[in-house]
Parts: sequence; C-alpha cells; structure tokens
Amino acid sequence: MFGVCYYPEHWPQSQWDQDATMMAELGLTYVRIGEFAWSRLEPNPGEYDFDWLDAAIASLTNAGLAVVMGTPTATPPKWLIDQWPEILPVDPDTGRTRGFGSRRHYDFSSADYLRESLRITEALAKRYGNHKGVVGWQTDNELCCHDTALSGSALARNAFQDWCQQRYTSIDKLNNDWGNVFWSMEYRDFSEIELPIGAVTETSPAHRLAYRRFSSDQVINYHNPMVEMIRQHAPGKFITHNFIPMNETAVDNFALAAPLDFTSYDNYPLGRTDLLMTGAPAEQLRPYMRTGHPDFASYYHDQTRGLLNRGFWVMEQQPGPVNWANNNPRPAPGMIRFWTLEAFAHGADCVCYFRWRQAPFAQEQMHAGLLRPDNSKTEAWAEAEQAMAEVAALDIGNQPLQPASVAIITGAEGLWVSDIEKQGQAYDFNNVQLSYYSALRELGVNIDFISVDSDFTAYALIIAPSLPIVDQAFVDKCKASSAQFIFGPRAGAKTSEFGYPAILPPGLLQQLIPIRILSVETLRADCMEGLSWNKQQYQSGSWCEQIDAGESEILARYDNGEPAVVRQDRTTYIGTLTNREFLLDFFQQYCQQANIQTYRFDTDIRVCQRGDLMFAFNYSDQSQELPLDSEASLMLGSTHIEPHSVTVWRASGS
Ligand code: GAL
Repeated sequence: MFGVCYYPEHWPQSQWDQDATMMAELGLTYVRIGEFAWSRLEPNPGEYDFDWLDAAIASLTNAGLAVVMGTPTATPPKWLIDQWPEILPVDPDTGRTRGFGSRRHYDFSSADYLRESLRITEALAKRYGNHKGVVGWQTDNELCCHDTALSGSALARNAFQDWCQQRYTSIDKLNNDWGNVFWSMEYRDFSEIELPIGAVTETSPAHRLAYRRFSSDQVINYHNPMVEMIRQHAPGKFITHNFIPMNETAVDNFALAAPLDFTSYDNYPLGRTDLLMTGAPAEQLRPYMRTGHPDFASYYHDQTRGLLNRGFWVMEQQPGPVNWANNNPRPAPGMIRFWTLEAFAHGADCVCYFRWRQAPFAQEQMHAGLLRPDNSKTEAWAEAEQAMAEVAALDIGNQPLQPASVAIITGAEGLWVSDIEKQGQAYDFNNVQLSYYSALRELGVNIDFISVDSDFTAYALIIAPSLPIVDQAFVDKCKASSAQFIFGPRAGAKTSEFGYPAILPPGLLQQLIPIRILSVETLRADCMEGLSWNKQQYQSGSWCEQIDAGESEILARYDNGEPAVVRQDRTTYIGTLTNREFLLDFFQQYCQQANIQTYRFDTDIRVCQRGDLMFAFNYSDQSQELPLDSEASLMLGSTHIEPHSVTVWRASGS
C-alpha cells in the first residue's frame, strides 16, 4: 500500500479536490495530514476551527482516499507558549531556553504541555475518532528529533529529583549506587540533586545514566496518555508513530513503541548518508552520494520493524533532494523506485511519500515533493508509479514476515553507556552496531533487531555488538536458549548503576563464558594493529581488551599473541573492534555452522528475503551478474542486474 504526506493548510481550498483526484489516480490509498496544523486548528485559546479540516478530509475521502490524522503537538502555537512560557525546553549544553519559531519547542517535563497536548488531542479525537474516512492516527511527529529528548530546565530538575526518589528510595542508596563519595559529590536530600549539566568537568557517569533513563521515561510518560486518549475516542483505528532511530534520540524506542499498533519510520537515505558519512573521505562517500549507503535505509527499516516485531510503515519517503543535510544531492535515476521496493522487502506494509507538493515558502522550500510548486510532476512521480505496479504484481504485501535466523540485540542502554564513557574517541555505539549489521547484510542474511526482553526461541545466532549492562534474567535466558551467542567488546562491562563489576568484566556474563577482562586499551582509529584468526591476518584496534581466557578456547589473537576472541560452548566473546573483512569471514563461518544461508556477491549488492520472494538490490553504478541457479524463477528483472536496479526471484524450496 502507498500514501503521501499532505498539508491542505498550505494550499488554497480550491486546489484540494484536484489534489485528491490526482492522488487517487496515482494509486495512493493513504494521506497523512494535520501533524503541524495547531495554529489553524485552534487559532485562539479554546477557539477550535475544524471547518477547514472537515472540508479537507471530505475532499480526500470523496476521492476514495483514507486519512491518517497526526496530532499537532510537535508545533505548539505562539499564543500557547506565551500563555505557558515554561513549555519551552532548555538546551542542556548551553543552558539557554530553546525558543519559539521552529518545531519541537516543548519540554517533556512540562505538566502544562502534557495537559495542553491532551486537550488538543482529545478535541481532534472526539471530532474525527469515529469518522469513517479517518482510518488511523499518528502521534506527534518524530518524537525527540532535533536533539530534544533532554532538557536542562528547572521543571526537568524537579521531575528528576522525584524520579530519583522513586528509583532509589533513600538518599544513602543513591549516594552509594552512584559512588558519590568520590569528589565529595554526596547529597543530603533528593531536593539537592542537580541535573548533570553545566559542571566544570565530567559529572558522575551514574548520574548521567540516571538522567538519560529519566529523560527517556519522560518521553514515554508524555506519549502514553496521548495514545490512550486517541484509543478512547477512536476505537478500532490504528495508532502509530514515525520514529527517529534510537541511536539519534537516545530514547528507549522499544518502550515508546509498546502501546502502538505498528511502528513507522521516515526514510531519507541521502540525507542520512550525508550525515552519517560526514567525516568519511570523498572516495567513500561518492559512490553512495546519490543512492544512499547500501545498509543505512535497511538498518533503520529492520530496527523499526523490530520494535514491535511486525510489519511497519515508511511514513515519509524521500522523493528528491531534501533540505536538511550538509549537502543535498538528487537521487540517482531509479532510486525512488529502488528504495520503495527495498522498504517492502524489509517488511514495510505501506510507503508514503513526503511530500505531495514542494512548498514555495518557509523552511522546507528546497525540499522536493512528488509535485513541484507549479504542479509539474517530479521524477519521483513516475518512479512511484512503477514501484506501485511492481509491488502489486509481486503481491509483496501478502508475503508473510518470518522471523530471521539471526538477531542483533540492541537497546538504549548500550548507547547511553558509550555516549557517557567514551574512553576511546573511536568507540561509537552506532558505528559498532552498524559494522556488525553491515557485515551480516553483505552476507545476505536477514536480521531481526531484538531487545534483551525479546523471545529468543526463533534464533540460531544472537549477536550483541554492544551490550554493557546485563542482568541475571538475561543471563538465565541465554542459558535456557539453544542459540549461539556472540558478544562484542564491552559486553557486561558495567553494573546497572554504571559501576565496574568487582569480579571484572564481563561481569554476570562470566556465567556463560568464564573469562576476565584485565584491562582495556583504546587506540586511534587510524592506528589499527593485527588480529590473526583461522590462519589469516585481519585488523584490530580502537578498543582492545586484555583477556584472561581461563579455560575458554582462544579463537583469535592480537599481534602479541594474547587472546582477542574466545569461546566457551555456545558463547563467543570478541574483545576488540575489528575490520569489515574479519566480521564478514567470522560471521560467515558462524552462519554456515548454524546452517544459515549466506551469499558473497559484489559488495554493493544486498540480498533480502520476504516470504518466498528473494530480492537483490544493486547499489553500484555498474551492472552485475547474479550467480543464481539456472532453475531460479525470476519474478522481476534479470540475473544481469542493472545499476541501481532490483531483481526478484522465488526462493528455492517454494
Ligand atoms: C522529517 C519530518 C518532516 C519533514 C521532513 C523533511 O524528519 O518528519 O516533517 O521535516 O523530515 O525531510
């Protein structure tokens, strides 16, 4: 299924019917509207104006389209801010209030804002909850985008003190858990606790971890009542949210997703590639500048699907140049169609293009749409049309999602730990996780992102690239599971209150693999050294743990002969960051041992399975030969896969 993001309030009413007719003619089903329209829905305090929205919905539904309604809470209007100035959040880095004039200018600790958000949500949900044409809801918009999860406000500090009291119950316990005897940081009372910001040098890591946990909880406490409010007035309608990836917001997206019917993601492969590869040399970026990096879109598709372990939506799909990255290239011809098919291959149920028509005013006037401001069609139009026809012909929407054989354990805590305690410049949670994911994807392996709380039963191989905090329940689950486990460096290296395990890392994981990490050294990313495994030389660096392997089997060694990768029964521990070649070869061997099919195609080919359809995506600007069986039954494209194109065949055995 397909949709589009539309802002009727940006266009004269006389245009709405024609827009709706064209959307229907294009073959769209859904239209998301409303998510920034508060100043038009309530122009003055308590004075609602729904007439225009009634008319806009009528235009859309008369054309046979279904509406997804966004709550407008990402953009509180000026009068509301003037009435309740404490809604504005405070930048924790500068201590400055973040003002009105863009979006997301609200503090998750503001009781006034929660109340006002629920009031506008209730008004909308009461009016449209039972409207036949409004089939689902989107809460807010990209919660915590623009670095808004944390606030340094007095409201946040007060709420943090309450949160600490709830969690630690006594101030002595908190002092003890945080190690506050160090540097005389002890508090006498919860009311003395500050936010860990604005201090002379580093504040306590336990304090910062608590602030991250608290801030994440505040987002969830803001969001949950909104979901409940919509449920109450819109029975039977779906509720989703367009998530920002966890590694950007540092919010526990698993918890945030829990009350939703399904998750959504906003897919901007070129913007994200530009940002994620900002520091990369030109020769690395150039091949992907107009296609997106082969793993960035699917990395987030798979994570979004994993939050609820079911089909997801792409709520916003990049249609051309965006306006917000450092540089904003045009997609290579064919990429809109390519990204669309890729999303479906990774489990999307619907792709909505952002946006219907480029706005000739305000902040996003340089952002493409399906139409230009003069109503001419952009290249994305024909490509979307093609993708729609292909998705229908392949009946992808009806292909079931099966659990993958390989899972990556992800979560906010690993990210918080690596943000808070850098130790080495080159260690970055997201880069570590992405490097593991990328190697597995290059092997054509389907991956589920799971949390420590997920059911492990379906998986043959469970990989935790960065899991510094584990609890006994997790260890017990690993013991009870029959999967192979691979832990990356830093696993089990911190207690739940950001302490160093007295028994030495990997702490509780010693129950699975009885080793001790004696020390950690971190090195510059460009100072890699050797790693020998399987009689071959690879690289190790950035993060190198000195391992007392005990009785465990030593699989790989550093240049100095000390153990770098060790195994005990079903548990493998990688004590260092390595290079792509090592991860590819190492994971391939583990997959083969677990009877998981792998592929070694060209580095720019990505293979993915959905139901009984196999997809190959060619990210390179060269055509490639796919070494498929002569019996492979091709459904789309050919074994000679063109640049930036897609081939689909039926999986063998079906
Ligand atoms: C998204 C956002 C949209 C729009 C878009 C531009 O992050 O949800 O409202 O700003 O980016 O690419």
